[in-house]
Amino acid sequence: MYRFAIRVFGCQMNTYDADRLRTALIHKNWKEYPESAADVIILVTCSIREKAEHKVTSAIGRYDLKYRNTNSPIVIFVGCMAQRIGIKMAKKFACIKLVSGPRHLGLVPDAIEKVLKDGKRRFLMDDDPRELIDLEVVPTERDNPFKAYVTITYGCDRFCSYCIVPHVRGRLQSREHNSIVNEVRTLVNTGVSEITLLGQNVDAYGKDKVDGYRFAALLKEVSMIEGLKRLRFTTSHPKDFDEDILEVMDENTSICPAINLPIQSGSDRILQAMHRGYTVEQYLSLVERIRRVLPHVSLTSDIIVGFPGETEEDFQDSYNLLKKVRYDVVHTAAYSPRDGTLAAVMENQIEKKVKARRLNDINDMQSELTRELNEEYIGRELEILLDGRAPKGAGLFQGRTNTDKVVIVKACEEEIGSFMRVRITKGNNWSLEGERI
Ligand code: 5AD
Ligand code: SF4
Repeated sequence: MYRFAIRVFGCQMNTYDADRLRTALIHKNWKEYPESAADVIILVTCSIREKAEHKVTSAIGRYDLKYRNTNSPIVIFVGCMAQRIGIKMAKKFACIKLVSGPRHLGLVPDAIEKVLKDGKRRFLMDDDPRELIDLEVVPTERDNPFKAYVTITYGCDRFCSYCIVPHVRGRLQSREHNSIVNEVRTLVNTGVSEITLLGQNVDAYGKDKVDGYRFAALLKEVSMIEGLKRLRFTTSHPKDFDEDILEVMDENTSICPAINLPIQSGSDRILQAMHRGYTVEQYLSLVERIRRVLPHVSLTSDIIVGFPGETEEDFQDSYNLLKKVRYDVVHTAAYSPRDGTLAAVMENQIEKKVKARRLNDINDMQSELTRELNEEYIGRELEILLDGRAPKGAGLFQGRTNTDKVVIVKACEEEIGSFMRVRITKGNNWSLEGERI
């Protein structure tokens, strides 16, 4: 019996991969331990920005120090960062015994066992961006027994000029819809109430195939699975978001009225340099259509400040766009150059100081907006799915609305995992407060 610990960095897709790895290892009779007591540490890593990679590097540095003194723990390095610079990192850190790109996950559990038996290092790199050796395991070992992620597409073909994802995760590949539907069914049968379908661009689902079975059809089929209470999906791409998705969302109440529709910039000039494939006007017209069909929709977005060549005026366009759209939540980021992407070699890179200031400005404004929008919830009666204890406050628990807002409410331990009707009494920056009806 081996003792393992698993740490996840980055996006929800990594959480899904980690959940599958954990499940596969537990099926092999392995046991999960706190990091300090584990023989094997699995790192599921992210490359989206330099900061994400720094975190992983410093964690590996700490494990390596211990490994050099005690021969333990060994590090299993998987995911986007492993694909990008795993080979180089393994030269520096002796503790790294297995490096695997995200498309070789299916070989990882057996490879870890081989490493433990013979002590030899192994590399499972995604050299062919179309090859996929997936881990065919339903992720039943998760932190939250009531919620689960299910990946529906691998990779991305959009090649936005700032983005490392297509370089590390390879070309778009849609999973067979039967396999997705079966996985969701199995999860629901084990007590899951809420599923989130994942893809870098879920709206592109099926566009790599010829059978015409696209995202709207998948959404509809999954939403009708008996016992599934809530269905979410992320991320959407304005260029691939087809109208029939809205129709399906409107007709099926189990599909949560929440869409993450990244704009990335409010300036047409920058959008073009980012290769996003739409203008601000086209984007806004899509938002209008979404809001017409789903008036209570929660819209969230991603935006990058300080992309190469972004002038103060371009930045103001982004700032004003957020004010205009009034998103529920915006994930903001300062542009981070990624080797191998087009934007990394563009001239007119923006100074760190300027990026930091723009990020601050836009965050301040958006957090004020989010609070205003949260205050608009006061008095509304909603249903929440109770997730667990609130971070602080005796007897306080937290749940989520179908628009994914956090609501803090008085409840008890036995109610975790059940739905509760609440009236909203207060709107804060990152959460709402409510009382049971
Ligand atoms: N720098 C900053 N932010 C980035 N993102 C992707 N690549 C970069 C980068 N190089 C952001 C985008 C994307 C989100 C997942 O991360 O906003 O939507
Ligand atoms: Fe990256 Fe663009 Fe693909 Fe999103 S759509 S993963 S930002 S390349």
